[in-house]
Amino acid sequence: MTIEVVKLAEPLLAEVKGIDISEPLDAEAADAVNRAFLDHCVLVFRDQAITAGQMVEFEHVFGPPLPHITKKYTHPEFEELIVMTNLNEKGEVDPFESDRGVGWHTDMCYLEQPAKATMLHTLEIPDEGGDTLFANMYLALEEMPSALHKRLEGKRGTFRYGGKSATERQKRLDAKDREAPLVDHPIIRLHQDSGRYSVYVNPTHTIGIVGMSEAEGDALLAEVYEWCGQQRYQGRHEWRMKDTVIWDNRCTWHSATGENPLRQRRRFLRGTITDM
Ligand SMILES: [Fe+2]
Repeated sequence: MTIEVVKLAEPLLAEVKGIDISEPLDAEAADAVNRAFLDHCVLVFRDQAITAGQMVEFEHVFGPPLPHITKKYTHPEFEELIVMTNLNEKGEVDPFESDRGVGWHTDMCYLEQPAKATMLHTLEIPDEGGDTLFANMYLALEEMPSALHKRLEGKRGTFRYGGKSATERQKRLDAKDREAPLVDHPIIRLHQDSGRYSVYVNPTHTIGIVGMSEAEGDALLAEVYEWCGQQRYQGRHEWRMKDTVIWDNRCTWHSATGENPLRQRRRFLRGTITDM
């Protein structure tokens, strides 16, 4: 197996070719994939006809899978996976479900031990739209004006699932998770595997800055988001059937576009990988 890594966009995103992820990877292949993951932040594996079980196996190449806190969507056979869908219980395309994942965020940053990575595999995609955007938070930090950078040093952001306007999203959670205490993480956070720092707060799940008033915190976060939200840090993934994609939640933001002009079905298998 000769693995080839091809860059897809300048700030992040690469395709890994010459690999069949339905088969167990040997140590050399697993190393190559993990190196590419650290270098490019988002990896795309095309034409992978994998089952849910094979996806769980492939997650282990990156680390231990972590079940998601929205139990409503848990896969019937594998508790490590959820089925992400824009369909409601009646199987109809639903506007509320269609908006899931729209808005810049990182996954499970509201946990004490946040998610390392998220993996998606296509089950059904619309003929048009439905792209996913990614943004490189290493780069956003590297290029950040020093005055803004200095104001963030040593500061911690507070996180909650769904952020301040959490009511609708929180209805999906079990009572114990709805009432979970707030957690905080450094705004400029060290990536344990790369040894690099990146911006960790995000507009969806961060609700404030520890030790600052709500107004002060909101104002500073708004400046950070304006900086980090610039187009030059972004890459776009246009989904094809049999795509498997993994991204690094520690150094990227992502957002669904929510565009689905033909109002077609969109379903993915999703797995999350923890840092431990
Ligand atoms: Fe997400």
